[in-house]
Amino acid sequence: MEISGIAVKGSARSFMSFHEDTSVQCIGTLEPRAYFIPFPEGHQPADRTRSQRFESLNGNWGFEYFSSILDLPDDFTSLPFRETIPVPSCWQLYGYDKPQYTNVNYPIPFDPPYVPDDDPVGVYSRSYHYSPDGLRRILVFEGVDSCLYLYVNGSFAGYTQVSHRMTEFDITDLLREGGNSIVCAVLKWCDGTYLEDQDKFRLSGIFRDVYMLSRPTARIEDYRITADMYGELTVSVRGGSAALSLYDGEKLILSGQASEDKPFSAKAGNVKLWSAESPYLYTLIIEAAGEVICEKVGFRTSEIKDGVYLLNGKKIKFLGANRHDSYPDSGAYADEAKMRRDLELMKAHNINSIRTSHYPNAPLFYQLCDEYGFYVIDEADVESHGCVGVFQDLRWSRPEGYNGIALIAGDPMFSEAILHRERLLVSRDVNRPSVVIWSLGNESGWGSNFLSGALEIKRLDPTRPVHYESTHCLDGTPNTVLDMVSKMYPSTDEMRSIIADPGEKRPLLLCEYSHAMGNSSGDLEDYFETFFSDDRFMGGLIWEWCDHAFPVGSSEDGSPRYGYGGDFGELHHDGNFCCDGLCYPDRTPHTGLAEAKQVYRPVRAKRTDGGFVFRNMLHFTFADERLSCRYELTSRKGLLSGGELSFSLPPEGECRISIPEAEGSFADDTYIRFIFTDKETGNEVCFDQIKLFTAAEIAGSVTAPAPQIRETPLTFEISAGDVCIVFDRRQAALTSLSKSGRNILEKPVSFNFFRAPTDNDVMKGEWYQLYMNDWRPKVYGSSVSEEEGCAVIRCRFSCGRSIFRPFASVEAEYRIDGSGKLTVSAAFEADSEKVSLLPRFGLRLFLPAEFDTLSYFGCGPGESYCDKHQASYMGTFAARVSELYEPYLRPQENSSHFGTKELTLSDGSIALHITGSTGFSFNAGEYTQEELADKRHRFELEKSGYTVLCADYAMAGVGSASCGPQLAEKYRIPLSGFKGSLSFELLSEK
Ligand code: GAL
Ligand code: MG
Repeated sequence: MEISGIAVKGSARSFMSFHEDTSVQCIGTLEPRAYFIPFPEGHQPADRTRSQRFESLNGNWGFEYFSSILDLPDDFTSLPFRETIPVPSCWQLYGYDKPQYTNVNYPIPFDPPYVPDDDPVGVYSRSYHYSPDGLRRILVFEGVDSCLYLYVNGSFAGYTQVSHRMTEFDITDLLREGGNSIVCAVLKWCDGTYLEDQDKFRLSGIFRDVYMLSRPTARIEDYRITADMYGELTVSVRGGSAALSLYDGEKLILSGQASEDKPFSAKAGNVKLWSAESPYLYTLIIEAAGEVICEKVGFRTSEIKDGVYLLNGKKIKFLGANRHDSYPDSGAYADEAKMRRDLELMKAHNINSIRTSHYPNAPLFYQLCDEYGFYVIDEADVESHGCVGVFQDLRWSRPEGYNGIALIAGDPMFSEAILHRERLLVSRDVNRPSVVIWSLGNESGWGSNFLSGALEIKRLDPTRPVHYESTHCLDGTPNTVLDMVSKMYPSTDEMRSIIADPGEKRPLLLCEYSHAMGNSSGDLEDYFETFFSDDRFMGGLIWEWCDHAFPVGSSEDGSPRYGYGGDFGELHHDGNFCCDGLCYPDRTPHTGLAEAKQVYRPVRAKRTDGGFVFRNMLHFTFADERLSCRYELTSRKGLLSGGELSFSLPPEGECRISIPEAEGSFADDTYIRFIFTDKETGNEVCFDQIKLFTAAEIAGSVTAPAPQIRETPLTFEISAGDVCIVFDRRQAALTSLSKSGRNILEKPVSFNFFRAPTDNDVMKGEWYQLYMNDWRPKVYGSSVSEEEGCAVIRCRFSCGRSIFRPFASVEAEYRIDGSGKLTVSAAFEADSEKVSLLPRFGLRLFLPAEFDTLSYFGCGPGESYCDKHQASYMGTFAARVSELYEPYLRPQENSSHFGTKELTLSDGSIALHITGSTGFSFNAGEYTQEELADKRHRFELEKSGYTVLCADYAMAGVGSASCGPQLAEKYRIPLSGFKGSLSFELLSEK
């Protein structure tokens, strides 16, 4: 709408009605356009801050905060503005109002177009010096949450909503020479709030960059570039004509004119294509009306053919992550350094694609994606997830069920608003080669408004496929306009059944999968294999990139104490569901990110007859151009041999590798590990470990005499040499394990079924109901005898506490040989009617805290589980107990080591040596599982004063069930027929 059409006089307050009117999206703003920054003619376009036509208005602005719009005085543009706030920022992080974390539920009553009367307002003020120079002054906001009323020198200048849009106001006519006042009233809620119900902390303010552009009156308003894989370049312009020059580096390769009625079109011969692997960019210089604009152009084609997604004609897979703008210090504001850090970290973890969940990011983000090379699914600022609860009210009795999410999707009140948001998406980012798919938004159901939105996007840009997760519809609108089927969190079986449907010919994208909440990411490799099992699978994007959290104080060492939902006095919240990222809030990688890096690796190695085969997972790049490879042949004792490898590995190709010393047989468990490093940085990119040989079990012969047995009504005491064991018959537990009179047990060793629930252990309620965390034995019988030179204790008991039948029964055997070696074998049967998933089965030992040094031969060095060990490899690792702990923001089970065959824990004088021939899992830590389970934050944890050692015959996988399918059967512990065995020896260290 034109500013000339509205009255600019009247009290500042008198204009404030647009935020409760869904027919008004903006007032006084310029037509949306593609993002660019002009430089004056004759200048060398560079970083935008170097343009004389660009003036940053970031910095401290005057600020007044009102917790209710009702308290806003009529003449608020002339408030004293005694306080200041940095721009950009989110005011909740500066002591005004509080952050609220809500996922699905709306933070306000559902009463569109109205919002609460007590709508908080932040009034921002700054001065602007104007010297007339014949150029217009265009004030640009890259993001304001949730809406903004703009006043220049006390006069109303315009209104905008849609938090993540770029808005331009030409304020020249309201300026006077010299000092001018710019005042913005930003409201926390507006009718747009109903369309911005994204799962995140709700924050407000001018949260992205603000700047002034100086531009001539006659200028090009907009332009559109398309550059495809055939070298075809088209440039159309709006608002004049422009001279164009396309450079490859310094070399001019194309030039010409484009005008309003005659677009430029030419074919550049033999172009280097742009892809995420090789993001080759050309430079397009656009000169018009005294301005010069620099654009980066990537030649590439993004399309779907015969149900298969193709990038430059290749069947690439999206191996991606969903990313929110969330930073513990700046909230929703990402400056360039933060964006670069995220992108560099993603690159370093082999992530090739990003969905900008669930709104457009700052314009610069896409330029950086062009530069670093990412396939971007660019998403419109639309989500109305809260409609689910609204539609169902309190009773959830409506037969349409979850379809209520589509309440707004077909509501005429919102049709213009949704269309507007789709237009904004395309118009701003259309020239970015990294944007390969448009996404209509997130979790708003499907309906006529989205059909119109999809058609509008296709009209505006026919060159990119359109995505939306269109499940759930109320109005029967067909969704065939969408170019792909999109799903969140389906199991791999569901994925297969979707493409098996004869009525469905489109490819399938998992716009979200493998919910990375807490100790998670247990299913990545299985999904990866499924993606590659059929060309119609496009791949998927992990939910999500980072944990969202804000400091609520700091620990003694100065590190922030991160708070999540519920820590800010919210009316309602969704707890730690915002801590579901591949990195911690400060971008320290979670173990899940290491797992993703390894699953998404560019080269995969496997064994074949007479050697090995490397497969290049890249589509456009010779792997050997980017990567060097070395190998290491190891056994339990360490490195046997190794060396550099030279190889030639074409895109999508394979090559054979032969390593003579890897053939034949070995004396010990032997592995080969191929390690690929980046030729430029030297950083490790990935590895593959292949087992070459499993040594046969050699039963050591014991020459020592049989142990001595002493039986009392309540104990069995066994001694073998200087080792002595006491078994308590009432508790069916070892109470003493000593060497030379020193007992290393601080508490009885009991069987353990419980783990501090991970965020994915969604069945944990059942564990507590059954008292799995705190059961008592019912001992049916115990005996001791001498057999084959060993003392053998046998016992049978059940585990339960109250209310129900015992949840499990155990048969255990303790066999002590003449050397003092104790082998505990156990079998259990769990009650499958009550137990759906058993977290673990093993023994728990409380050792003196001095047992703080360990070494193990197992899957390390990071934490590993039966379904989460891609990033780990078999090796001999040494560590301090305190170093193993993985500090999830909400404490939970962590730092287990899968596939362990040998573990030694020592206090410097005695070493406890544990072996398990089929591989066991262990955790050694300072915190008890009870402590980890009970505390809400990592900063609340108290050390137990012991080294708590869990030696597990079996540990269940972690999966990603916090928002995904149940843990796959193959990663569960069988509830019946399970048997395991572990041996314990006490060795002298001195
Ligand atoms: C999806 C949603 C995301 C996030 C995730 C759970 O349903 O699109 O925004 O809420 O689940 O963490
Ligand atoms: Mg949602």
